[in-house]
Amino acid sequence: MKKISLIGISVLLLFAACSTKMPTSISKEKSSKHSGASSNIIAANYKIDCSNMNLSFITDIKPIFETHCTKCHNEGRKGGYNFTYSAEIKTALRSGQLLGAVKWQKGFPHMPADGAQLDLNTIIKIECWYNTGMKE
Ligand code: HEC
Repeated sequence: MKKISLIGISVLLLFAACSTKMPTSISKEKSSKHSGASSNIIAANYKIDCSNMNLSFITDIKPIFETHCTKCHNEGRKGGYNFTYSAEIKTALRSGQLLGAVKWQKGFPHMPADGAQLDLNTIIKIECWYNTGMKE
């Protein structure tokens, strides 16, 4: 009897541990809270291969921030950042805050604060720029 309940408990614990790690449960929970966003594929784990990407700040990254971020993240420094400077984008990337914010991860404010989540390709560009050494 004791043995059986021990096994039962371990199975339950294992199940609980696995289910809390499931990325799909996170994305469901998030998208229901933000019905304005069309989807939240970003919260799910996605495979990212940056090896063929040759990204530079001026060509690839600056326009993204100018379109989506610098109307708030300028001299007024909303959230502490002025994203007209690549140096501040780099700081926010290194701290983990920037990717946390654009991926709408738990514990980060969801950015852009005024609209839909960036599309997956845009987020991958930012992440790959970071992964490949943040070239100017
Ligand atoms: C409409 C205004 C607005 C826009 C647009 C906007 N932000 Fe923000 N952002 C804010 C505000 C306000 C805060 C502070 C919110 C807070 O701390 O809860 C903030 C905070 C942040 C932070 C700090 C997060 C942290 O953990 O404290 C980051 C990183 C960030 N924004 C990135 C971005 C990026 C990247 C974009 C563009 C994709 C963007 N934001 C677009 C208003 C904006």
